[in-house]
Parts: sequence; structure tokens; C-alpha cells
Amino acid sequence: MDNGSVGGLWSPLVRTEYLIILRHCLKTTKPLGESMVGSIVLFGPPGAGKGTQAGRIVELTSKPQVSTGDMLRAAVKLGSPMGLAAKEYMDAGLLVPDEVIIGLIQERLQEDDAGQGVLFDGFPRTIPQAESLEKIATVSSVISIEVPDDAIVDRIVGRRMDPETGEIFHVQFKPAPPEIEGRLIQRPDDTEETVRSRLEAYHNQTAPLADWYSDRGLLIRIDGNASINQVGVSVERAISRIL
Ligand code: AP5
Repeated sequence: MDNGSVGGLWSPLVRTEYLIILRHCLKTTKPLGESMVGSIVLFGPPGAGKGTQAGRIVELTSKPQVSTGDMLRAAVKLGSPMGLAAKEYMDAGLLVPDEVIIGLIQERLQEDDAGQGVLFDGFPRTIPQAESLEKIATVSSVISIEVPDDAIVDRIVGRRMDPETGEIFHVQFKPAPPEIEGRLIQRPDDTEETVRSRLEAYHNQTAPLADWYSDRGLLIRIDGNASINQVGVSVERAISRIL
């Protein structure tokens, strides 16, 4: 465990008490949105579990989740010119150009619900994106979910999504209930071959951001190479440090 690490397992009792205290604080103080203006960045390699853990953070902070991956997939589904151009990059496991992503984020941050900060999921992914973000929003913390490459491939290839609810499952680590199994879909970029390109893009273009944010004293490292629930506990502990 290094400096900022909050990994580790709590006993169920301590965890329950902690959640009661946290909920009490959230009820008896101003909503977080008013007390802590600033955005949180959820950072990590593809398949680290950012989407899986985002819901807990939204619940605890009331900040809306802003996922550039979801925004791009929505644009692809609509068949907009931007979506069609982005699809080529996504299918190849490459990053979509910075100017497209920054434009999307600038627009998203104009919306009313973004006024008290948001939870960025999968953004920023390059230093130019982080520099642009610095000019338009305040980032108060960056939670980095750290998972080794060999675990990433299994996670991504086994991922399935429920198109009706958006819930993320895994054939082995988080099986879906049998009654919805038939409608689950697999993302087109969730192949073993594309995962390799995505990991390469991550190591070359995104990973350097960890030091960039660490230099600014904003990085909180979490051991993501644990069960979904254990990572969830670490995420909750990280949030308690931010509140
Ligand atoms: P995006 O959608 O952001 O993909 P990603 O970063 O590659 O992240 P993922 O959604 O694949 O993974 P995740 O960390 O959310 O993991 P999840 O929780 O689903 O981006 C897609 C593409 O869009 C990019 O490749 C790029 O082309 C483009 N793009 C997006 N943003 C961009 C940007 N800012 N700049 C440029 N281009 C951009 O979990 C994965 C699986 O593992 C699930 O099945 C889950 O059930 C399972 N799982 C989760 N946690 C655990 C655990 N602890 N143990 C076991 N299994 C687990």
C-alpha cells in the first residue's frame, strides 16, 4: 500500500457503522453539492471497474456521473456525424481526438445539474484534456482504481450489459439473473484484440496523468485488484476522505 492508498478490507460491522455515520452526516449537513463545490475524477485503465463503482459515488455525493464513453456510445447509436467518426477510433481501441472530447465536456458542463461539480468517469484521459478541464472546472479529487493488465483482459472480455437498465455484469465475476441473461449485450470494443490496443493507449497516453494529478496533491490510489465489494469499500473510504 503506498501513500494515498485506501485499499483493504473492513469488517462488516465497521463498514455498517461507517455507512450509518456517513448517511447521518449527509442528512444533517447541507447536501454535498452545496458544501463541496468541485468535481471528482474516477481514473483507471479500461475495465478497472470505474462504471461498476460510479453508482456508489453518485449515491454518496449526489454528483451526476459524466462518462465520456457513455456519451460517445449514445452519439454512435444516434448515428450523428461525430458518433460515426468516433466509432472508428473506439472500435480500434484508440482514443477519440482531444478536441472532440473537450467539446463534449464543455457542452455537458453547461447543464444545470453540473453547477456543483460532477463525477467524471473516463475523462480526462490525456494531459491536454486535463489541462483543458483545469480551465473550466475545479477538480477536488482523483480516485485511481489500480488493476494489473492481466486481470483487465478477463474483466473486459467477460463483460455484458443490460441494454434496458444499463447495468454492467460479468459472466464470471457478476453473473446476471437468469431471467435477463437472454437480452444482455457485449460491447463491440470488448474483444481480446481491442483490449490490447486500449491498454496500449492507456499506458502511453492516460497513465502519465496519475503523476500529473499526484503532483497536484489530488490523487487517491485504490487497490482495484480485489472483489467488487472490497473495491466498493475502498471507494467509500476514499469518499469519506474527500467529504
Ligand atoms: P469507456 O467506455 O470509458 O471505456 P474504458 O475506460 O475502456 O472503461 P470501461 O468502460 O471499459 O471499463 P470500466 O472501468 O468502466 O469497467 P467496468 O466497471 O465496466 O471508453 C470507450 C472508448 O471510448 C475508449 O476506448 C475511447 O475510444 C473512447 N473514449 C472514452 N472516453 C474518452 C476520452 N476521455 N478521450 C478519448 N477517448 C475516449 O468493469 C469491467 C468488467 O469487470 C465488468 O464486467 C464488471 O462487472 C467487472 N468488474 C468490475 N469490477 C470488478 C472487480 N473488482 N472484480 C472482478 N470483476 C469486476
